Amino acid sequence: MAHINTNFVKLPGSYLFSEIARRVEAYTQENPDKKLIKLGIGDVTRPLAPAVIQAMHKAVEEMGTVQGFHGYGPEQGYEFLREAIARHDYQDRGVDIAAGEIFVSDGAKSDCGNIVDIFSVDNVVAVCDPVYPVYVDTNAMSGRAGEYDVRAGKWTELVYMPCTSENQFTPEIPSKKVDLIYLCFPNNPTGAVATREQLKAWVDYANRVGAVILFDSAYEAFITTPGIPHSIFEIEGARSCAVEFRSFSKTAGFTGARCAYTVIPKELERDGVSLNSLWNRRQCTKFNGVPYVTQRGAEAVYSPEGKRQVEETLAFYRENARVIREGLVAAGLTVSGGVDSPYIWAKTPDQMPSWDFFDRLLRQANVVTTPGAGFGPSGEGYIRLTAFGGAEATREAVARIRTIL
Ligand code: MLT
Repeated sequence: MAHINTNFVKLPGSYLFSEIARRVEAYTQENPDKKLIKLGIGDVTRPLAPAVIQAMHKAVEEMGTVQGFHGYGPEQGYEFLREAIARHDYQDRGVDIAAGEIFVSDGAKSDCGNIVDIFSVDNVVAVCDPVYPVYVDTNAMSGRAGEYDVRAGKWTELVYMPCTSENQFTPEIPSKKVDLIYLCFPNNPTGAVATREQLKAWVDYANRVGAVILFDSAYEAFITTPGIPHSIFEIEGARSCAVEFRSFSKTAGFTGARCAYTVIPKELERDGVSLNSLWNRRQCTKFNGVPYVTQRGAEAVYSPEGKRQVEETLAFYRENARVIREGLVAAGLTVSGGVDSPYIWAKTPDQMPSWDFFDRLLRQANVVTTPGAGFGPSGEGYIRLTAFGGAEATREAVARIRTIL
């Protein structure tokens, strides 16, 4: 008889965003006439940049010719895209990363989830609390999280680093020694950013104890404050202790087109083995690469027109973030994030539990948010809103929330 991976059975309920979708669907069934505004899941709404579309069209035409046809591509990504990433996202910004250290993939979520494959099950894993659920659930699935304690809302073997208003939503280095450290800045869900000094402390810690930092910078394009690092590799010493995940999803609207990348420096080794070569081995076995057409589209993000068009879209979302942030503050809520970040993190009124406030906003304002408690125990008492909606819908959502508060 075949046996299942019982770690999956330990997972509580459903994936956060599936649970939200379920509640929204149930509400819509009961109230088909209500017009919902969705500021819940961080999914973009602006179309792909014209430069990207043009490049994709051209690539599609190529695929219809004998000379231009592409079958399986390199599992690591086409050289043209790896080179463009290395140059524009790193070297031009004075950061030492080469094309051979970049692995193109179909998403930062997949990479953040799959990276656990190359690490021993014995590693002690530290996560922020609140946290993007993928880091937690994938470690639970691979048996690194222990048991789920329903009452505490925590896994017994994970080290939770509370990110609360008391510490400006930045995690402190845990007293217990940890091996794998997930950091996400600009942060999902709180919208907090990390300074150079804060990241330097993590890098020094990781190098000292031999830990590896898994740095998710999917939202780096939203940083506008000068001096805030866009990459962990801006920090001296990071090449020997960090892996970075980046994505075209939020930067350039690729949530549907699917393209991202992971950076693993050549000198990053543990147990005398290169993590770059381990990940390469993993990808070559389990992944056949991102479609040629998509990679040509991603390459166009770095063309002069592409850069300009993408920047316009980012400005559009930043304006939404401002509208939400200022609107909620005017409504009397305590708000953080929304600067250098597409996420706004708001305290619920009168210490209302997150899911109750989520339901209230859904039913009374017809606005979909994300309950903070879904990101971990320290997210209780908060909700998250995203700046990825339409401009008018965002203004309307804020106005509706203000009316009911
Ligand atoms: C979110 O809403 O947190 C994001 O959509 C997560 C993701 O990009 O997978």
